[in-house]
Amino acid sequence: MKGFGLILAGAAIATLVGGAVADPDPVEAGRAFLAENCAGCHAIDAEGASPLEAAPPFRDLHRLYPVEYLEEALAEGIVTGHPDMPQAVLEPEMIAAVIAYLHTLE
Ligand code: HEC
Repeated sequence: MKGFGLILAGAAIATLVGGAVADPDPVEAGRAFLAENCAGCHAIDAEGASPLEAAPPFRDLHRLYPVEYLEEALAEGIVTGHPDMPQAVLEPEMIAAVIAYLHTLE
């Protein structure tokens, strides 16, 4: 049953970011994904405060750990102790795109 759920989640996300995946520029695709799914709480650009104060701006993540550490978290679904934080399971392609975008913020 667990596998079935993952397939469904993958299909839903593929549909969600269908437009972005077609984008040939991974950095743009990664940014588009974050803008759609994460920007409601996190600052995703080089400047500006997070809309939700408790959510760290993505440009600060690389100060905490190499952003590659997020690959696993994104593939398995980010789970933090914070109830506001949704679970996201990403396709490998989109994970690479998100990491590529995060590197542009360093
Ligand atoms: C509804 C608000 C909300 C949304 C949407 C959201 N986050 Fe978060 N996120 C948070 C909060 C709040 C924290 C801080 C959690 C804590 O400190 O326990 C956080 C923390 C994080 C962290 C830091 C975890 C760590 O190592 O300390 C990462 C990475 C992260 N979010 C990634 C994402 C990504 C990627 C998305 C989009 C797929 C996303 N978040 C969407 C609220 C959100």
